[in-house]
Amino acid sequence: MSYRSRIKGIGAYLPPRVVTNAELSTMMETTNEWIVERTGIEERRWVEPGEGGSEMAAKASKEAMEKAGVEAKDIDMLIYATLSPDYNFPGGGVFTQRLLGLREIPCYDIRQQCTGFIYGLAMADAFIRSGLYKNILVIGSEVHSTGLDISTRGRDVAVLFGDGAGAVVVGRADDDKHLIMSTHLHADGAEAEILWTEAPASRNHPRITEADMAAGKHYPAMQGKKVFKHAVTRMPQAIMEGMIANGLKLDDVDMVIPHQANLRINQFVAKMIGLPEHKMHNNIQRTGNTTAATIPICMHEAIGLGKIKPGDLVCLVAFGAGLTWASAFLRY
Ligand code: UT7
Repeated sequence: MSYRSRIKGIGAYLPPRVVTNAELSTMMETTNEWIVERTGIEERRWVEPGEGGSEMAAKASKEAMEKAGVEAKDIDMLIYATLSPDYNFPGGGVFTQRLLGLREIPCYDIRQQCTGFIYGLAMADAFIRSGLYKNILVIGSEVHSTGLDISTRGRDVAVLFGDGAGAVVVGRADDDKHLIMSTHLHADGAEAEILWTEAPASRNHPRITEADMAAGKHYPAMQGKKVFKHAVTRMPQAIMEGMIANGLKLDDVDMVIPHQANLRINQFVAKMIGLPEHKMHNNIQRTGNTTAATIPICMHEAIGLGKIKPGDLVCLVAFGAGLTWASAFLRY
C-alpha cells in the first residue's frame, strides 16, 4: 500500500503588539524610509514578555487542527521548526505537545532556520508515505524580539525580524486533487558563518563570557549583501527544480509563497523566473521576517484573502541560514 500526503488544515498566530518602523526609530538610528526602501517592511509583531514560541505554536496548531477536522487524539507526530526554542532544552515541541494535550507521540524539534518549515513538511510527507502515521502537525514558530540587539549597533538585523507562528496538519491524501507533489531540500555549510549567532557555544568553556556579551556575540549577525546574493540564486533554482520534477510550466502554477526575508529579494526572484506579480503573495510588510514561521503565516493569509483556493497549485520556496534552501509543490 502506498500513501501520499496533503495539507488538511492551516493555522497562524501573530502576537497583538505591533511595532512600527517609527517606533524602532526611537530605539536606534534608523528611518522608516531606509527600512521600507531596502526591505519592504513597515511593521512587525513582538510578543509581550513571558509569551514563548510554544504558546504561539499551540494557538496556530489549534486553528490548523480545527480546519483539518482533527482532534488532539488524532495527531500521530509533531514537528516543530524553530531557531528560537523557549529554552535551550528540551525543545519547543514537547511544550507545545503539553499545551495541546496530545498523546505520547514523537515530538521533533528541527532547526534549518528560514527553511525549517519546508524541511518539516518534507519529513511529514515521508512519514505519511511510509504508512507509519496518518496526521502530523508541522509547526514553524519564532520569538526573535527577545534576542535582537535593539540599538544602532544591531540595526541592520534588528529591523528585519518579527515574532509569530504558523502550523499545518499534514494527513493522508484521498486523491490527487489535494496533494503534496514534491519537496526538494538543500544545504551547504561552506559559508555557515555569514548568518549566525555565535554565542553561547558549547564548543567554548564557558559557553559565553562577559567579553562575548559586550561584543554582542549573543545576537544574530549577518553579512547581508552575501546572504542576499545567495537568496536570489538559490530560490529560483529550487523553484525550477520542483517545476522540472513535476513536469510543470510557469502557467500551471497558481501561487508562489516565498519565505519572507526581504520584499526586494522576492520581487527579484519573481522577475528572474518571469512570474507575474499577482502569482506571488508577500506579507513581510506587516510581519517582518519570522524565519521558520513565514511560509505558513503567509500561506494562511493568502488563503484568507481568497488568493489560494482548494485544488490550486502552490509553490513554497525558502532560503536561510546554514545555508539552506528548499521548495515544495502542492495542490492545496
Ligand atoms: O531570512 C534569512 C535570509 N536573510 C536574508 O535573505 C537577508 C538578505 N540581506 C538583505 O536583505 C539586505 O542585505 C539588508 C536589508 C539586510 C541590508 O541591505 P543592504 O542594502 O545590503 O545594506 P547594507 O547592509 O550594505 O548597509 C548599507 C548602509 C550602511 O551604511 P554605510 O556603511 O553605507 O554608511 C549601514 O550601516 O545602511 C546602513 N544601515 C542602516 N541604516 C539605517 C544598516 N542598517 C540600517 C538601518 N537603518 N536599520
